Amino acid sequence: MANWTDCLNFGISIAKQASEIVLSEFQQQKQVKLKSSPADLVTETDQRVEKILISAIRNKYPQHRFIGEESVAAGDRLELTDSPTWIIDPIDGTVNFVHRFPFVAVSIAFTVNKQTEFGIVYSCVEDKLFYAQRGRGAFLNGEPLHASGQEDVSKCVVVTEIGAERDDLALSTMTSNIFRLLKLPVHGIRALGTAAVDMCQVATGGADAYYHIGMHCWDIAASAIIVQEAGGVVIDTDGSEFDMMSRRVVAASSSAVANRIAQVVQAFPCRRDDEDPAGVCVEQQV
Ligand code: IPD
Ligand code: CA
Repeated sequence: MANWTDCLNFGISIAKQASEIVLSEFQQQKQVKLKSSPADLVTETDQRVEKILISAIRNKYPQHRFIGEESVAAGDRLELTDSPTWIIDPIDGTVNFVHRFPFVAVSIAFTVNKQTEFGIVYSCVEDKLFYAQRGRGAFLNGEPLHASGQEDVSKCVVVTEIGAERDDLALSTMTSNIFRLLKLPVHGIRALGTAAVDMCQVATGGADAYYHIGMHCWDIAASAIIVQEAGGVVIDTDGSEFDMMSRRVVAASSSAVANRIAQVVQAFPCRRDDEDPAGVCVEQQV
């Protein structure tokens, strides 16, 4: 069976380089463009970092394929095949990046036969490297990660976001889901502004659950395996098996908590990431 450790190590080294570029731009004034909504932003740094990552990987692994947030926004077809595929979010938390709110991450997942082999989330400002390899555990700066194991939803801290979808149905669904979670009750709701880092909190045990609807595969592919390898559970909000293309996720400390959250939250319709035309959007200058 293939061992993808060399690819993982290469991914970690380029994620660190990408993080240095993100950090070097963090305090600067940015030119911002809008993509699918007034809360879906892109900067020149997102695009540049993605190009640097893809060209470094392509040089080393010319046969491998890519799904990258900014390449898809520019019109690349989003298709997950059985080939080795790198799923890249060059800056997760672009709104944070633009505002200098200190949670931004480089997120890289790697799949083979549509199964995630490893995930890397580099939280740039915190200088935290989260990673996990299938069957080999999850780590933060080299130390093993363990989800909390909490089974009682009323004792949970839940991380979530409203997200970038701003039509009435999406907004009313997401805000009423927060109400439903608070009434369960849970101990608290938190949001850091990056799906990748939000979800990694479940792997650390600092949060017990994360739920979101409307994000994309590049936001959560890496952190999903990090949660699973830390002993957590990742499912769809409809209670079925996790599907990174469905744009719905619950990550939790235990099946009991994951299922309870899936029971209470409601979904709004989102086009799947792998549905045609896939996520192509026209940038607007702001
Ligand atoms: C966004 C962030 C945010 C989540 C959105 C994502 P981006 O990604 O992960 O936390 O709520 O759904 O689109 O645009 O910053 O890469
Ligand atoms: Ca993202």
